[in-house]
Amino acid sequence: MGKDKVHIFDTTLRDGEQVPGCKLDTKQKLIIAERLDELGVDIIEAGFPISSPGDFKSVNEIAKLVKNATVCGLTRSVKKDIEVAAEAIREANRPRIHTGIGTSDSHITHKFKSNREDILERAVAAVKYAKSFVEDVEFYAEDAGRTDNDYLARVCEAVIAAGATVLNIPDTTGYCLPEEYGAKMKYLKENVKGIDRAILSCHCHNDLGLATANSISGVINGARQIECTINGIGERAGNTSLEEVVMIMRQHPDLNLDTNINSKLLYDTSLMVSDKMGMVVQPNKAIVGSNAFAHSSGIHQDGVIKNRETYEIMDPHDVGVNESSIVLTARSGRAALAYRAKKVGYELTKTQLDTVYENFLKFADVKKEIVDSDIHEIVETSNVNSSSLA
Ligand code: KIV
Ligand code: ZN
Repeated sequence: MGKDKVHIFDTTLRDGEQVPGCKLDTKQKLIIAERLDELGVDIIEAGFPISSPGDFKSVNEIAKLVKNATVCGLTRSVKKDIEVAAEAIREANRPRIHTGIGTSDSHITHKFKSNREDILERAVAAVKYAKSFVEDVEFYAEDAGRTDNDYLARVCEAVIAAGATVLNIPDTTGYCLPEEYGAKMKYLKENVKGIDRAILSCHCHNDLGLATANSISGVINGARQIECTINGIGERAGNTSLEEVVMIMRQHPDLNLDTNINSKLLYDTSLMVSDKMGMVVQPNKAIVGSNAFAHSSGIHQDGVIKNRETYEIMDPHDVGVNESSIVLTARSGRAALAYRAKKVGYELTKTQLDTVYENFLKFADVKKEIVDSDIHEIVETSNVNSSSLA
């Protein structure tokens, strides 16, 4: 049986770009959009066109450039927003309007000073208006994570009847637990009339470090779209990280879910986004961090040298990383030293290795990391019979 497809909705250029200091110009956005298309994302959320003339221009240029992916513009449930977004994406091969409104009691009371019935009417009106411009209309129920499930189901039912093709269920504040978020999706699947005519979408924020877990729980429970960003960038603690959800589905065939992403481009895309946004990727970031395939403790190094799968659940080549690295520190063992020494040209006998290793530890206690040029110095100053060295 074929795997179920999960659509990847990339919002690096919208939610991701909301990060302070990560602002991009149109040229930089076009380069990233082209790469996202090549990567195989299904939808590119290019921006929030009403927010500024610059953002309008970027969305408009991206709409003209992108060949395969759907190009989407964000709006509030406001007529003018929808008109401007429709104009910005008019020339896209596959245009989508992403409109919505806050549905939690907190948003309804404090942000809108309104009531549930009024919000429901505004949601329906926005979807109908967006539908007069494009076929593909996605509706977001902002703060759905804290919205009462019964009311959320009523809103979903009404916007599907109004023509929404995708229902975005954002955990805007990153509050939900994975079980709770998954149960929300299941509840909507089971209680919304017409749900088979729409795709449920996960949009999770990472305030408690649960964005990825929540998105995976969402798709396990019936959602078929994940909204995410490269490197997990986004408001506050960020959004769901694209590379993480894609590789979770790849590495767990039992989930029977997959995406169109060409995973071999993940590492390079991560570097590109980090570089353009000036946003450093933490070294221990899953999949794309500089330490994601680096082994530094003696026990782990020995295991990986004997068989990579002892300590790696993914082949680094699959995400575009050339090879696993064996990092030499004072915690490394003889196997790692012999392995790295061989790479720079020294084939050490067991006795030679014992001697060189003693010398290595002295160097390593002083330096944080031993690099190739240090290895030459360590071997040369170890008083081993250099004529028998390779
Ligand atoms: O987090 C959120 O609720 C959003 C919506 C605007 C989709 O980004
Ligand atoms: Zn968001």
